[in-house]
Amino acid sequence: MVLRVPLPLSQPADPPQDQVGLVDTFGRIHNNLRISVTDRCNLRCVYCMPEEVTFRDRSELLTFEEIRDFVRIVAPLGIDKIRLTGGEPLMRRRLPKLIEMLVQVPGIRDVGLTTNGILLAEHARSLREAGLHRINVSLDTLDPERFRQLTRRDGLEAVLKGIEAAQQAGFERVKINAVSIRGVSEHDAVPLARYARLNGLELRFIEYMPIGANAWERQKVFFAHEIVALLEAEFGPLIPAADADPRSPAQDYVYADGGGRVGLIASISRPFCHSCNRIRLTAEGKLRNCLFSLEEVDIKTLLRRSPTPDETGIIAAVRRSVWTKWEGHEINTARFIKPERTMHTIGG
Ligand code: GTP
Ligand code: 5AD
Ligand code: SF4
Repeated sequence: MVLRVPLPLSQPADPPQDQVGLVDTFGRIHNNLRISVTDRCNLRCVYCMPEEVTFRDRSELLTFEEIRDFVRIVAPLGIDKIRLTGGEPLMRRRLPKLIEMLVQVPGIRDVGLTTNGILLAEHARSLREAGLHRINVSLDTLDPERFRQLTRRDGLEAVLKGIEAAQQAGFERVKINAVSIRGVSEHDAVPLARYARLNGLELRFIEYMPIGANAWERQKVFFAHEIVALLEAEFGPLIPAADADPRSPAQDYVYADGGGRVGLIASISRPFCHSCNRIRLTAEGKLRNCLFSLEEVDIKTLLRRSPTPDETGIIAAVRRSVWTKWEGHEINTARFIKPERTMHTIGG
């Protein structure tokens, strides 16, 4: 077995006492918190989760008040951007209520949601009214049969209606996430891009990562440069976007013909770990400093301390977790170890 040592042995165990933001030993500043609100999902995407799953008992999940308390405690450390994920976050009842609570926390300037879109048509308006800023919807194909094969469920029509409802509710820059898989994306990239161009959506292709339940192989990834070649052959040149956010995982392009914007999340062929600004809280209250972390920190116990959350303990735990963050996922090396959790229990 290959042992993975994330830090040089000389590394101090604790961050400096006078540290202001959430800085790690590689100088990366963490301002982005991804919160999974449930491990439940109404789809079963093959690259994400097994067909048969036992979901956590609801009593294990953090309550809305506990999530809000955590956000209130970490916002002064520089966390200003939040993304709610799942499983499928809209499977969590009364989600707009949580959003209302989070947008009110001082320092939080951006609250986003990543959804599979199945339930979006019925919730888009209340999400907007709750103060949600942005929505990203996962959609890999416009072909109903391939949708069924990939998600092991029906639902393409519902997702398309959900996307439309989100735009009608007033969400701007709705993003579509398509996992880029060899054997699939060759057929779907161009139709998806055409749909996105026609409907004013920002499409992003995500290279298929080894974080699901099924066996991942490098040759199953349809790489970002291959997507670019397909899109340029169909729509003409792509130009790097001038206003691209250097901390976003996506390399953003605009179509030279004015057809809008498209992003490539090249997690495998061009890892963006060097600019990572993310930490994650799982639905049952574990803190992860990387999507691929092999270790996590129990925050729920600290949040449930009586009579109030152990604020000092939580701050120390978050700082220590960030300080011990490794350089990157190492998928492209023999040292890579796949985490035990699959994507649906981490939250995308
Ligand atoms: P915004 O930039 O705020 O719109 O959000 P985002 O792109 O971070 O959010 P989204 O949930 O849409 O993420 C898109 C995809 O990027 C996810 O579904 C993951 O597949 C991938 N991703 C997100 N975070 C990470 C990460 O830390 N590491 C890696 N390798 N991939 C990530
Ligand atoms: N590789 C890349 N992206 C994935 N997602 C789920 N599993 C994988 C994987 N193995 C993405 C989905 C969705 C988000 C929740 O995570 O497309 O956008
Ligand atoms: Fe559900 Fe999202 Fe995983 Fe698909 S990728 S099974 S929609 S959590």
